[in-house]
Amino acid sequence: MNIAVILAGGVGSRLGLDKPKQFMKMAGKTILEHTVDVFHKHENIDEIVIVINAAYLHDAEEMVLQNHWNKVKKVLNGGSERYESSLVAINAYKNIVGEDTNLIFHDAVRPMVSKRIIDETIAALGKYDAVDVAIPSADTIIKLDETKQFISEIPNREFLNRGQTPQAFKYKTISEAYKIALSDPKMKTTDDCGIVKKYLPQTQIYVVKGEEQNVKLTYPEDIYVLEKLFQIKCAQPDIGIDYSELKGKVMVVFGGNSGIGLDMIKIANEYGAKCYAFSRSLTNTDISNMENVQQALNGVYEKEQRVDYVVNSAAILNKEPIMHLRESTMGKIIDINYKGMVNVTVAAYEYVKESKGQILHFTSSSYTRGRANYALYSSTKSAVVNFVQAIAEEWQKDGIRINCINPQRTKTPMRTSNFGIEPEHTLLKSEEVAEISLKTLLSDFSGEVVDIKL
Ligand code: CTP
Repeated sequence: MNIAVILAGGVGSRLGLDKPKQFMKMAGKTILEHTVDVFHKHENIDEIVIVINAAYLHDAEEMVLQNHWNKVKKVLNGGSERYESSLVAINAYKNIVGEDTNLIFHDAVRPMVSKRIIDETIAALGKYDAVDVAIPSADTIIKLDETKQFISEIPNREFLNRGQTPQAFKYKTISEAYKIALSDPKMKTTDDCGIVKKYLPQTQIYVVKGEEQNVKLTYPEDIYVLEKLFQIKCAQPDIGIDYSELKGKVMVVFGGNSGIGLDMIKIANEYGAKCYAFSRSLTNTDISNMENVQQALNGVYEKEQRVDYVVNSAAILNKEPIMHLRESTMGKIIDINYKGMVNVTVAAYEYVKESKGQILHFTSSSYTRGRANYALYSSTKSAVVNFVQAIAEEWQKDGIRINCINPQRTKTPMRTSNFGIEPEHTLLKSEEVAEISLKTLLSDFSGEVVDIKL
């Protein structure tokens, strides 16, 4: 039996937020939710215990219910030191576990732990009583002298690794090690392997290869790294999503007359989804007009009695210096790219709330930095990201997911009409972007900017 112990009892003083860092939201969910999800989805994890700071016990219990985490059997108050939180979990299983029970301790603030790391950790427990996860140190590590001002030693980097989690143990090993440790008045530790190493020195601790991305949210700069990693994770193909889940789903695509929207429909149709395209040329639907959007959605709902996905790929780009643009063109770009996006989102609310579905918009790689000659396009695309992140938080309680796709240059009619002929190898194919967009619809991501690169 493999029990994952998610250590979430800290307060995150080094990050300095008003709530402990494990409650910070990223990609639509709290860091704690991301972490528990990874273990919950793992087929070899039988049970989960969350150790939490007493002030947040209620929040964590709510989270368990909301996420339907049926593997979470205990939510326990932690201690003021990390080792005390570990001990709380160890003690909670005293007398009720068998010989073959393993405890797998993991920092709640390492949400990017991979299935591979968990697989290998569990496999190693079949052979060893204690397992750690670590990565080689890229930097030279220097040891300081007692004044902490001068080098006393430069150990050989070949043997130096940086410890991560999980740290996993046979129950008997970790409980025995702590029993001895607690009788030592000088006991001092920051991790559980340290306890085993010191108090059961004959135990071999096997080391599983960690990953650079298994970062611990500790300092403010880690926030940026993690946000980026979440984007990359989603944009990687084959994350175990089965397109056949599209069968019977109802998808509405605004801007579905050409480009990525049309390709999404083609692929989704192949997998048995029921797709409806709306656009100015196709159905006289102008997304900057709220009534048009409502009519479109309502018509589909009346026919199908449900709407699972609402995709908005409609946007306009006029590559011209701002001072050359006609006033009417300026208005059109803002109306379609911004107001249209807001209209589609607001009009979709009731439908995706009922279906627990998803809304998907498109941003552009220019969202991070405005580009000369298409200032309105890039700034409205920047607004898409901000809007999507905000709405993801606002509607999370309704079970609605909302994301945006950020494709690099893609070969679409809109691109060609503004940039002319470009070398094929420098452009993404519209179908490739459509595939990842569908994958995003099937994922549980929310509030994400899904980067798609060549
Ligand atoms: N942890 C815990 N109980 C504690 C202290 C820490 O369960 N008394 C958990 C944290 O919630 C975190 C993990 O151990 O998931 C790693 O600890 P760390 O990053 O040091 O977290 P904090 O103690 O919260 O951060 P800080 O040291 O910046 O206050």
